[in-house]
Amino acid sequence: MEKLIIRGSNRLYGDVKISGMKNSALPVIFGTIAVNDVCTIKNLPDISDIALALETLEMIGATVRFIDTSTVIIDTRGVQMKSPPLEHVSKMRASIYLLGAMLGRFGKAEVGYPGGCDFGLRPINLHIKGFEALGAKITFSTAAMIEGETPNGLAGNIVYFDIASVGATINVMLAAALAKGTTVIENAAREPHIVDMACFLNACGANISGAGTSMIRIKGVERLHGCTYELAPDMIEAGTYMVAAAATGGSICVHNVVPKHMESISAKLREIGIPVGIMGNTITVTGTDSFRGTEIRTNPYPGFPTDMHPQFSALLALSKGMSTVSEGIYSGRFKYVSELNKMGANIEVVENAALINGVEKLHGASVKATDLRAGACLVIAALAAEGITTISNIEYIDRGYENLVEKLRSLGADIRRG
Ligand code: EPU
Repeated sequence: MEKLIIRGSNRLYGDVKISGMKNSALPVIFGTIAVNDVCTIKNLPDISDIALALETLEMIGATVRFIDTSTVIIDTRGVQMKSPPLEHVSKMRASIYLLGAMLGRFGKAEVGYPGGCDFGLRPINLHIKGFEALGAKITFSTAAMIEGETPNGLAGNIVYFDIASVGATINVMLAAALAKGTTVIENAAREPHIVDMACFLNACGANISGAGTSMIRIKGVERLHGCTYELAPDMIEAGTYMVAAAATGGSICVHNVVPKHMESISAKLREIGIPVGIMGNTITVTGTDSFRGTEIRTNPYPGFPTDMHPQFSALLALSKGMSTVSEGIYSGRFKYVSELNKMGANIEVVENAALINGVEKLHGASVKATDLRAGACLVIAALAAEGITTISNIEYIDRGYENLVEKLRSLGADIRRG
C-alpha cells in the first residue's frame, strides 16, 4: 500500500486553487438519478469518493462521460430501480442519497446500508423519519439492506429534525422535490453543501426555497429536467490549506473560495494571532512564529465545522499554552490524537474534548490515517515537524483531497508517495 513521505519544516508559500466541494458533489451525483435526464456537472473534484459514486451510478444504468477532469456529463435516463453492489455503497456515507433519489423517481428503492468514515455511531434514523413523513414505508430486509416503498406516492408534509443533519436534510429535499404538494423541513441543516444541492435541484426545475436557513420549503414538481451546474468550492479543502500555512509559518493565497463559508475558520485563526486577509474570492493566511492556544467547539454551520477539528488540533499542538477542542457532532472523532502524540504532541482526550498542551516542535514519525480529516491533520503536522514522517492508510486522504501531493509541492513542501 502506498504511503505519504513528508520531510517537514519547509515554510509553504504560494498560490493554491480550491477544487469543487466533495460534500455537495456526492449528493448532486446521486441526485441526477431523480432528474432522469442529462446533467453536466462542472468543478467536480478529482477524488476517489467521486470516482466511486460515478461507478455506482454506471452499475445501475447511467452513462458517464468526462469532458475534462472536472466536467462530467451524466445521463440517468437508462437507470433502473435496482440495488447497486453492497461493496460499493458500504464504502461511503453518501450512498444513502440513493434512497431519496430512487424514492423520488421510482416510488421505491432498495439500497445497502451506507459506510463512510468511522466516528462511532452514524445512524440514519432522521433520513427514515423524513421519508416516512412523506408517506414512504421503510423496512430493513436484512441487516445490510434498506427497502423503501410509497404505496400512495410521496406527499408533502412538515418534517422536523431533532438534530440539524446534513444528510437527512439533503435526502428529504431530494425526495420532496418530486412529491405531491409542499414539504417544510424544520431545523434543517444550513451548510453550504445544502445550498449547493438546492441550487442544483432548482436548476433542474425543482421549487426549493430557504436553503441555507433552518426552514426549507419544497414545492413538489411533476418532473425534473437536465441542467448544467457548477459546484461551489470545497470549504474544508480551503480550510486545510489555510491551516497548513499557519502551521508551517509560511504564506498561502487560497484561491476560488467563498469567504463567507470560511468565517468560523478565519475567525479562529485571527483569534490565535494569525493574520487572514480577504480579497474577492481569495484568502491569504500568513503564519507567524508564535501563536496562542484557544477553545473550539464544533457545531453545525455556521458554527465551527467538525471536518476542520483534527486539522486545527495539529495546529494548536504547536501553540503557546493550552487549547481545548470539543466535539459537538461526532463522539468518535479523536482517533488522530494517539498518532499526533507519536509526533511529539501533548494531547489528552477527556470525554468529548482534546486537551492540547502546546509544544515547541513536532518530530517525524511513522503514523497512520484513521479517517479522511485525521489524515489531513497528520499531513499538516508532518509539514510542520522536524524530520521525516511516513503516513500510511492514505486511501482515506485520497477520498477527499484532489492532487494533494502536487498542490503541496507547488507550495514548496517536500512530499511524495512511496
Ligand atoms: N445523525 C443522527 N441521525 C441521522 C443522521 C445524523 O443522529 O439520521 C447525527 C449524526 O450521528 C451526527 C449528527 O447527526 O452526530 C450530524 O450528522 P450529519 O447527518 O449532519 O452528517 P452526515 O450527513 O452523515 C456529512 C458529511 C460529513 C460531515 C457531516 C457534518 C457527507 C457525505 N458527509 O455527514 O463529512 O462531517 O456532514 O458536517 O456529506 C467529511 O467530509 O470528512 C465528512 C465526514
